[in-house]
Amino acid sequence: MQATDPTPAIMTTDQIIPRDIRFNVSRYATRNWLCGDPDQTAFVDGLSALLPEGERYFVKAVRHYQDSITDPDLRERVTRFVAQETNHSREHIDYNNGMRNLGYNVDVMEARLRAKLDITKSPLVRLAVTCCIEHFTAIFSDQVLRHSSYLERAPVAYREIWQWHALEELEHKAVPFDVFTFVTRDMPAWKRYVFRTAVMLKLTKNFIVQLYSNVRDIFHTDGKKLTLMTWIRWLWKMAYNPGLVRRSLPNYFRYYLPGFHPEDCTDKELMQRWRENYHPAAVTENQ
Ligand SMILES: [Fe+2]
Ligand SMILES: [Fe+2]
Repeated sequence: MQATDPTPAIMTTDQIIPRDIRFNVSRYATRNWLCGDPDQTAFVDGLSALLPEGERYFVKAVRHYQDSITDPDLRERVTRFVAQETNHSREHIDYNNGMRNLGYNVDVMEARLRAKLDITKSPLVRLAVTCCIEHFTAIFSDQVLRHSSYLERAPVAYREIWQWHALEELEHKAVPFDVFTFVTRDMPAWKRYVFRTAVMLKLTKNFIVQLYSNVRDIFHTDGKKLTLMTWIRWLWKMAYNPGLVRRSLPNYFRYYLPGFHPEDCTDKELMQRWRENYHPAAVTENQ
């Protein structure tokens, strides 16, 4: 197999739009904000606790290669990727401060993730890890926008931060992958495939452990015990109703296809609908 050129992105440079919006989630922080359901709220809050550290890591991983990129279009997409992730980080720091105000030990959650992320020193592995996590976030983002009823009853600040984040994740999801393809352009295609899928396998396990640890900590802070019934409930919710994990699996496995590109999972009609109709109340509220 021959090394290939970077795959042209369907999402063009000017379609990666950093929207500098403040949602002030900490001001409205509350328990069980998602459908009054402690399980779903814990999973989503547990995810938020991973984001500021994670996004700082992605930005560093991609920026490491920015000056070596010869394609000006890809360089500009990196700049926009960094701008979007920096805004996300800022807003999730505020979100997580709201969790702190409710008594959750976000510092422990962040330290646990930082310790894990710091193990890997190789810039190329860090970039490959970033590609994998971007795939995860893109899968979840697709679900958030596709099933907007999921957040319908959530308080406005929570609903809008997640919809805003989801839209921008889908806009920039291919950027780290295209940088990875560029950086590894002289690597045989089979080797690149084995490398990125091996990283994905390991990352999947680590991601589940980190998210589960956060959910467990949230439960403990709320004085709840993890029993067999808790696990049965979680499995039911993940697999059946609302079934976010079950619905995400087909796109997750696409990453293991030899010719995979993140834009293969793009639903153009969904993206167009959201981009055209995206007018969060928070924009006017904070301008
Ligand atoms: Fe993000
Ligand atoms: Fe992202």
